[in-house]
Amino acid sequence: MAYTVKDFGNLIGMEGFSDTLLNNHFTLYQGYVSNTNKLIDILASLLKEGKESTPEYAELKRRMGFEFNGMRLHELYFGNLGGKQPPDKSSKIANQMAEDFGSYGDWERDFKATGKMRGIGWAILYQDKVTGRLFNQWINEHEVGHPTGCTPVLVMDVFEHAFMTDYGLKRASYIEAFFKNINWSVVNSRCCTI
Ligand SMILES: [Fe+2]
Repeated sequence: MAYTVKDFGNLIGMEGFSDTLLNNHFTLYQGYVSNTNKLIDILASLLKEGKESTPEYAELKRRMGFEFNGMRLHELYFGNLGGKQPPDKSSKIANQMAEDFGSYGDWERDFKATGKMRGIGWAILYQDKVTGRLFNQWINEHEVGHPTGCTPVLVMDVFEHAFMTDYGLKRASYIEAFFKNINWSVVNSRCCTI
């Protein structure tokens, strides 16, 4: 079954994000969905034709992680936006942050610092499902550096297309706008209790 484009039109009008920026970003996301479906189809055809040992098959197989993660990371990113409330101090996520970072404030400083690192990519709050531990991870390419078996709880896009239209090189200002719009109830629902 093909992957379908999810509608994040509810985010239009969000404070600190222009319609132009969001619509361009939605278009970019749609490209990942389309390419993920194409790759699945082409790989299946090549397999049927007995061409699984060809360089073409190998290169498309390698590309799958980039396209699939590009799709899914954008869904998680848009999905954790659109909120207006600060995090609930008694929520699972807030308790786990306090346990692993000392306080919400220390977690926030670490996450923002991760997002401000030089280079383009993703800042992702991951939870290790084995221990429950939270950590902020820098992801350079969509398919590289994800900790195995961990859950992406909060995803922030820091590729230039995510902010340059509205903020130019002021990534820190974009990160502040991102924080004002985090949907903490979604983030909390992605976090589990061990
Ligand atoms: Fe993006």
